[in-house]
Amino acid sequence: MNLQGTSAVVTGGASGLGLATAKRLLQAGAKVTIADLATSSGKLVAEELGASVQFVAADVTDTAAMEAVYDAAERWGPVRALVHCAGRGGAVRLVEKDGSPGSLETYEAVIRTNLVGTFNTLRLAAVRMARNERIDGGDRGACVLTASVAAFEGQIGQIPYASAKAGVVGMTIVAARDLATKGIRVCTIAPGLFDTRAAGPAAATGEGFARAVGSAPGAARHAGRIRALAQHIWRTRCSMAKPSASTAPFAWRRAKRTAQPMNAQSTARAEPDPTAIRWPRCLAAFAS
Ligand SMILES: NC(=O)c1ccc[n+]([C@@H]2O[C@H](COP(=O)([O-])OP(=O)(O)OC[C@H]3O[C@@H](n4cnc5c(N)ncnc54)[C@H](O)[C@@H]3O)[C@@H](O)[C@H]2O)c1
Repeated sequence: MNLQGTSAVVTGGASGLGLATAKRLLQAGAKVTIADLATSSGKLVAEELGASVQFVAADVTDTAAMEAVYDAAERWGPVRALVHCAGRGGAVRLVEKDGSPGSLETYEAVIRTNLVGTFNTLRLAAVRMARNERIDGGDRGACVLTASVAAFEGQIGQIPYASAKAGVVGMTIVAARDLATKGIRVCTIAPGLFDTRAAGPAAATGEGFARAVGSAPGAARHAGRIRALAQHIWRTRCSMAKPSASTAPFAWRRAKRTAQPMNAQSTARAEPDPTAIRWPRCLAAFAS
């Protein structure tokens, strides 16, 4: 899908992977609406990025606020691209170190932002996109969601985060199927460790970050990888891609060698689906 002159929404766009993607969308000629918390640096970021970027303060779990985001974005034209990067962490152990049970409040709060917020953002975007005219052979829009390697391999303490991100992975094929006939594609990227604020205090310095991922050399990625992948998803018209950047060096090599997806079962099941699963090609092309 050609992004020139289109209106795009990036949630969590004030920082990290969302900000990197907002910049890439801007370069591709899109008008970008950044939706992020009122406490974020979204206003400043939008001012720095210029007249084709606007900031609308919104919590992704708040329906009225997200409607206002899409209203603002539609003033620049039909919204054809959503990149949903808003997310948060929150450590919980089932049995905490002092013997108390893990916090239900924290568990619910992380699920609310990362999972309920994703559903809310996606459903409201889909309603808008479904009204768009079809372009580029049938597309009305494309939505890129953000999961995490934790959806598949969470660490101790990541139980709320891993549960939420597994939920995002789970909703992806359902959403892709649900929206396929409407000409709306849905893909989820499951990043590994990227050098952003969300990666924790270790990311504050390049050196600290390198130490933090020392057990997996080369696994830490710059946010540019994500924005490039998000852009690639629009260009190749793939749907339901689930490339994981966590094992990136291995995954890219494997994809090149075999042209097979890492999640072979889900792709195989989905083959007859009208969403035309193209993720091996998508990943292989990205890796090349
Ligand atoms: N950085 C990593 O290593 C990594 C790895 C895997 C997945 N992810 C995921 O990628 C996404 C982006 O992460 P990042 O590294 O750029 O983090 P980040 O902290 O730099 O950016 C996240 C942004 O989301 C915003 N946000 C948080 N809660 C919100 C809410 N309720 N409503 C609106 N905005 C909200 C924050 O204000 C922030 O600007 C997240 O979903 C994160 O879970 C990151």
